[in-house]
Amino acid sequence: MFPKINPTKTPAWKALIDHQTEMEKVQMKDLFEKDPKRFEKMSLQLGDILFDYSKNLITEKTIEKLLQLTEDCKLMEARKAMFDGEKINETEDRAVMHTALRNFSGKPVMVDGKDIMPEIRDTRKKMKSFCEKIHNGEWKGYTGKKITDIVNIGIGGSDLGPVMVTEALKPYWIEGIYAHFISNVDGTQIVETLKNLNPETTLFTIASKTFTTQETMTNAHTARKWFLAAAKDEKYVEKHFVALSTNKEGVEKFGIDPENMFVFWDWVGGRYSLWSSIGLSIALTIGYGNFEQLLKGAESTDNHFRSADFKENIPVIMAIVGLWYTNFFGSETEAILPYDQYMHRFPAYFQQGNMESNGKHTDRNGNDVTYGTGPVVWGQPGTNGQHAFYQLIHQGTHLIPCDFIAPAISHNPIGEHHPILISNFFAQTEALMNGKNAEQVKDELEKQDMDKKKMKELIPFKVFTGNKPTNSFLIKEITPFTLGSLTALYEHKIFVQGVVWNIFSFDQWGVELGKQLAKKVLPQLKDDKKVESHDSSTNGLINTYKKWRN
Ligand code: F6P
Repeated sequence: MFPKINPTKTPAWKALIDHQTEMEKVQMKDLFEKDPKRFEKMSLQLGDILFDYSKNLITEKTIEKLLQLTEDCKLMEARKAMFDGEKINETEDRAVMHTALRNFSGKPVMVDGKDIMPEIRDTRKKMKSFCEKIHNGEWKGYTGKKITDIVNIGIGGSDLGPVMVTEALKPYWIEGIYAHFISNVDGTQIVETLKNLNPETTLFTIASKTFTTQETMTNAHTARKWFLAAAKDEKYVEKHFVALSTNKEGVEKFGIDPENMFVFWDWVGGRYSLWSSIGLSIALTIGYGNFEQLLKGAESTDNHFRSADFKENIPVIMAIVGLWYTNFFGSETEAILPYDQYMHRFPAYFQQGNMESNGKHTDRNGNDVTYGTGPVVWGQPGTNGQHAFYQLIHQGTHLIPCDFIAPAISHNPIGEHHPILISNFFAQTEALMNGKNAEQVKDELEKQDMDKKKMKELIPFKVFTGNKPTNSFLIKEITPFTLGSLTALYEHKIFVQGVVWNIFSFDQWGVELGKQLAKKVLPQLKDDKKVESHDSSTNGLINTYKKWRN
């Protein structure tokens, strides 16, 4: 049974409120001084991923109390319910089984009394064989040329996963294959992308779970027109368009042969779908073998999440450390900072992953929550971020827990670049923790022979309070396997937090209202009549748009 416990009513929650009043006075650097084994005690390793959570405002007692909270909220039962295929996405009446997509154990996985693994294996096989045909040139475009360019058309989870992974794994791209992504309904993106492509050698993967999403369908129709303008005959569409979807009817209606459809199922949430056939553009770009490694990396995390004691369970620790700041320190945001240029879309990927999953104010009993839920997630690759927004993290008024992520081995080990990059990673987490007090600033300024009055004036501006929390993920190398494993760690973190917050993490009703209203506005834009049916602001904007567009 999926639990429905108000976390604030648990004894652990109350104990944590008291504990916070002790902890807010504590300096992290003092905790390190007192305990030389702090790093050993507060770091965990999963394969080639080292997770260091020691630079947080926590003690072993904090972890114990937070783990008690997960127990009071029945995390173990919730985890079992998910892996057992219970319909834990209650508002959509669906199971949550993205983990089955990366299950290679050979064991059955049941949903509604049926083993879903045979269908998953069939789809994997179909994807593999399709990738091979594209790569060996057996699958040819309408003029007999080999496919060179893969254009994925999708949005949200049908775009961000494939983009994030293909970018992060660029060193694994198959020679002669290039990936492109179109998501925005702004015609600029499709126009700019298609400008440089040849219809004879381009394959479109139309990625949409529902196959009704306005942006994706609009882009897909435009792509079809662009293709037909060159190919001139509908019969060639099948060589250049494939669909990744759960909606067979919708795919047929669009004119894609069901033979060219790669299915997935309603128990895969959009933002958890890169492991399904939505990942076809990934497999086409890095090769099916590497795609399978990605799945296997995620599987290794699933096994860890299912079996490791919560004290040593990385996603559980990631989740409770995050909860600690959201619910007991009033923090409202988290930053994800990859020190790896290839991972530049990782923060955006988990912006959706986290915010669409846990951005909810109604609990599982249908009541308004009285506590913070999902944080605002954002980030940029280091060191660019350092020269942009780290100022606020160091000296601003908001508490921003940060995740630092970096590989130990670079795919591009030229000159001193990588050691310089990584030295910044290490230095930032240290600086955020240690800060710099007035005494230290004074010493520094005295060494510069600064005038005493000026020095006194300047000191407050140069002080860093420190005590800013960070997690560090040091990864041996970004490979398909380690990326899969890391991605699944973040997914399970989101799950654990959703369980404790007593919200439904796998629906997304909050995206509907705007979509519905846009459908009402669109017809009003088609003529020149004055619009008066909205509030004065919306009317004013629409009417000015109508005046100006001509
Ligand atoms: O608008 C939100 C959303 O439903 C996401 O959850 C999803 O990833 C995206 O739209 C795309 O949906 P689809 O894959 O059905 O086109």
